[in-house]
Amino acid sequence: MNSKPVAIITGASRGIGRAISLRLASEGYDIAGIARTPDSDCMLSLQAETEKQGVDFFPVGLDVAHTDLHDEAISSILEHFGRIDVLVNNAGIAPIERKDLLDLDEETYDRVLAVNLRGPVFLARRVAREMIWMKDQVKDYKPSIMFVTSFLAYTSFSNAVEVCLSKAALSMAALVFADRLTEEGINVYEIRPGLIKTELTSRSKYKFDKLIAEGLVPQKRWGTPDDVAKAVASLARGDWSFSTGTVFEVSGGLNIISI
Ligand SMILES: NC(=O)c1ccc[n+]([C@@H]2O[C@H](COP(=O)([O-])OP(=O)(O)OC[C@H]3O[C@@H](n4cnc5c(N)ncnc54)[C@H](OP(=O)(O)O)[C@@H]3O)[C@@H](O)[C@H]2O)c1
Repeated sequence: MNSKPVAIITGASRGIGRAISLRLASEGYDIAGIARTPDSDCMLSLQAETEKQGVDFFPVGLDVAHTDLHDEAISSILEHFGRIDVLVNNAGIAPIERKDLLDLDEETYDRVLAVNLRGPVFLARRVAREMIWMKDQVKDYKPSIMFVTSFLAYTSFSNAVEVCLSKAALSMAALVFADRLTEEGINVYEIRPGLIKTELTSRSKYKFDKLIAEGLVPQKRWGTPDDVAKAVASLARGDWSFSTGTVFEVSGGLNIISI
C-alpha cells in the first residue's frame, strides 16, 4: 500500500482541477487525475510537473457521466495505489451553446445533469464504500470527500438553467453525504467557486470583466484556480476537521447580498 496519502481529482486536466492537483501534490499527496483523455497534452504536462516534485501521478481516462465505468476506474486506482484518502469531485460542464430557458433542450439538459450531478454522486458513493473499508487498514487515516459546486447553486442564470439545477442539487448531495458519512469518520465539504478565470468562463470574459469592474464581486477581481485549490488543500489537510457538511465560498464576496 502507498505510504503517501492519495487524492483523486476529477477534471484534473485544466482549470480548477489542475490547480487542485498541483496544490495537493505540493502538500505531499500522490494523485489520481481523472479526465476524459488521459494522454492529452494537458494531462501529460500535469504529470510531468507533479512528477518533478516526486509525486506519483496516475492518469485515469473516465467520462464521469458514464457511471457504468466508475468501478473499473476506481479499481485501477486501488490497484495502483492501494488507498484513497481524498476525492475531489471537480469535473463539471456548462452547455456549449447558452440558450434561453424557453429554448432549453432535453439532450443538453440530460448531458449537463449527467456530468455535473449523476457522475459525482455515484463516484462519491463508490469511493465512500472503499473509504469505509480502508479506515481499519490505513494508519492515521483521515478521509474526505469534496464536491465543487458553484455560485449558480443559489444564483439564477436563465441562460444556463441546467448548470443552476445541477449545482443546487449537488449542494444537497454534499449535505446528505456529510450526514451519512460523518459516523464513518469521513468528512464531506462543499466548495462553491464564484467567477474563476478558466476556459469555462473564457467565453463570457468580457461580460464578466465589466460586471466585476462594476462591483458584482465585492473583492473586485476574478478568482484564480489556485484560490479554489488553496481551500481544497486546507480542507484535505484537516484544518477544518470539525466542520463537516460546511459550504466553503471562494467567490470574493459574490455571495453577499447587499441592500
Ligand atoms: N470557472 C468558474 O468560474 C467556475 C465557477 C463555479 C463553479 N465552477 C466549477 O468548477 C469546476 C471546474 O471548472 P473549470 O472552470 O476548471 O472548468 P474547465 O476549465 O472547463 O475544466 C473542466 C475539467 O473537467 C474535465 N471534464 C469535463 N467533462 C468531463 C467529464 N464528462 N468527465 C471527466 N472530466 C470531465 C475537463 O477535462 P477533459 O475535457 O480533458 O475531460 C477539465 O479538466 C466545474 O465543476 C465547474 O462547474 C467553475
